[in-house]
Amino acid sequence: MGYAIEARCLTKKFGDLTAVDSVSLSVREGEIFGLLGPNGAGKTTLISMLVTMRKPTSGSATVAGFDVVKNPGDVRRSIGIVFQDPSLDEELTASENLELHAAMYGIPGQQREARIKEVAKMVELSGRLSDQVKTFSGGMRRRLEIARGLMHFPKVLFLDEPTLGLDPQTRAHIWDYVRKLREKNGITVVLTTHYLDEADLVCDRIAIIDQGKIVAQGKPAELKGKLSADRVTIHCRFPARLKRAVWGQDGILKADVAGGRLELRVSDAGRKMPAIVSIANKAKVAIRSLEIRKASLDDVFLHYTGRSMRDEPASAKDSLRIRRRAWGRGR
Ligand SMILES: Nc1ncnc2c1ncn2[C@@H]1O[C@H](COP(=O)(O)OP(=O)(O)OP(=O)(O)O)[C@@H](O)[C@H]1O
Ligand SMILES: [Mg+2]
Repeated sequence: MGYAIEARCLTKKFGDLTAVDSVSLSVREGEIFGLLGPNGAGKTTLISMLVTMRKPTSGSATVAGFDVVKNPGDVRRSIGIVFQDPSLDEELTASENLELHAAMYGIPGQQREARIKEVAKMVELSGRLSDQVKTFSGGMRRRLEIARGLMHFPKVLFLDEPTLGLDPQTRAHIWDYVRKLREKNGITVVLTTHYLDEADLVCDRIAIIDQGKIVAQGKPAELKGKLSADRVTIHCRFPARLKRAVWGQDGILKADVAGGRLELRVSDAGRKMPAIVSIANKAKVAIRSLEIRKASLDDVFLHYTGRSMRDEPASAKDSLRIRRRAWGRGR
């Protein structure tokens, strides 16, 4: 199988700021590939070079086999884009928005109607085609934008934060469509998202980006597997005493006291727990509750960047984006 995207040392500078710093990545045909990273990491800038909207400062990339600098027209014909910021015309109906896009891409008049019906069906908006977009919910708008991105049969679909600000059920629905698209049409999908758990479920491979650089790349399971240890949280009366008692035991890789709890990294925690509980009994530490958790993508992020993505405050820009999506522009 070939590569849908190959980027080599792709770099974008804005004055003194290096927004994308020598990024190399390969995305296979038919793959769902996720770009994860905090606000300002460079995800949108990286995508904008791949979709030919910005010229790289240095480095090169091909999309669907075409060079993004030498053959931008061929690249554009091969891709669909769902932008991070809303880009539908609210005053027009859903159907008119799709029609406009079809005209722009030169889809012949007689094929347009059939294609509009087809893409509307894919995102379950068939019954709403003649309604104005301003009557749509945030989730429906997003689905319509995805439908629009699919109008001209793209080989590669770029989705920049397709689910930001939507409720969990609608987010799950959107990921469902994305997976179906890949299964039915073999489309390659490149997406960015702040929701690490969802990226874990939907992506075949991910790249973690921080300050313009890829700090880790691979299958979610591989990346989590590399961290190997499970996370164990023990709520108890004397966490420091328990820490002293368990430290040095086989399989205990890290122990930290935080508030009224002991946080452990333990390899194969399920099997080690009885021993830990019996150590606690001997040390006369009463355990109130105990939680075992496998490494998550957030742990992977923390491991490579030293920060937790969950702790990153939503930027003012994100809040604005969320409000816009919920209520539509101009309201
Ligand atoms: N046109 C521009 N001019 C100057 N700086 C820019 C421009 N576009 C982006 N930047 C800067 O480049 C960096 C990367 O921005 P980018 O939008 O690519 O991040 P992102 O990962 O998409 O963030 P978010 O999660 O908020 O969407 C940021 O520091 C941003 O301020
Ligand atoms: Mg962005």
